[in-house]
Amino acid sequence: MQVSNAASDQSRLYPRVTSFRFRRGALSAGQQRNWETKWPILGRELRTDGGSEAPLNTAEWFGRTADTILEIGSGTGISTAAMAAVEPDVNVIAVEVYKPGLAQLVGLVDRQGLTNVRMIRGDAMIVLMELTGPSSLTGIRVFFPDPWPKARHHKRRLLQQGTITLMADRLKPGGVLHIATDHAEYAEWISEVLDNQDVTKTHVVPLEDKSASPILLERPTTKFEGRAQREGRDVTEYVFTRQEAQ
Ligand SMILES: C[S@@+](CC[C@H](N)C(=O)[O-])C[C@H]1O[C@@H](n2cnc3c(N)ncnc32)[C@H](O)[C@@H]1O
Repeated sequence: MQVSNAASDQSRLYPRVTSFRFRRGALSAGQQRNWETKWPILGRELRTDGGSEAPLNTAEWFGRTADTILEIGSGTGISTAAMAAVEPDVNVIAVEVYKPGLAQLVGLVDRQGLTNVRMIRGDAMIVLMELTGPSSLTGIRVFFPDPWPKARHHKRRLLQQGTITLMADRLKPGGVLHIATDHAEYAEWISEVLDNQDVTKTHVVPLEDKSASPILLERPTTKFEGRAQREGRDVTEYVFTRQEAQ
């Protein structure tokens, strides 16, 4: 993948406030062993010194050329592993900052013998800005992003106008942006962001015919969704696609 725009130009356009909170969590002894042996093969850690990042070379990393899906905020990787198992022909890259979550996914990938999953530990905004190039992704998944409910924290929400513009740029024509949230107010916010985007620039529109999706849209029920169901909250789902530029 080639990155055409200088990251420094883009940092003005996209939020620099982080959309995640730092969570501590120890790895179990088994996870630690797995981490030491499997993470170097399956994972990549972003720099912590603010230095620029080398673009992804998915052909080299996966050992094949295939459509690539980026999942942002994969949590413990339940959806990632379950969906990757159903779509072995696509490359799946899970991005997460929470190490114990990634360690769980390393375990799932190992136990299930999945060969199409790789992981990045770090801020997904950096991954979008610096590691991926325009029109390089067939899918972007954002399942249950942190809702940051307090008004003073809304600027931390991952899904903002600038992020959607950036995601749209990273999608190939025909590529799909799939978002799910169980937070009613964040759902309204996301609808507004999507309604107000400049479609003449993003070319991102609702995907009417779901059967035409190049990526799997069926998600397993995760911890978040299970809790939402038990507490009577609806899950709102958005499936958008990038059209060919007119
Ligand atoms: C509410 S959890 C949902 C996890 C998972 N998608 C699920 O459905 O179970 C949101 C996750 O997104 C991660 N996250 C938030 N902002 C992120 C960012 N900018 N880069 C990477 N991960 C992020 C958080 O660490 C957290 O694990």
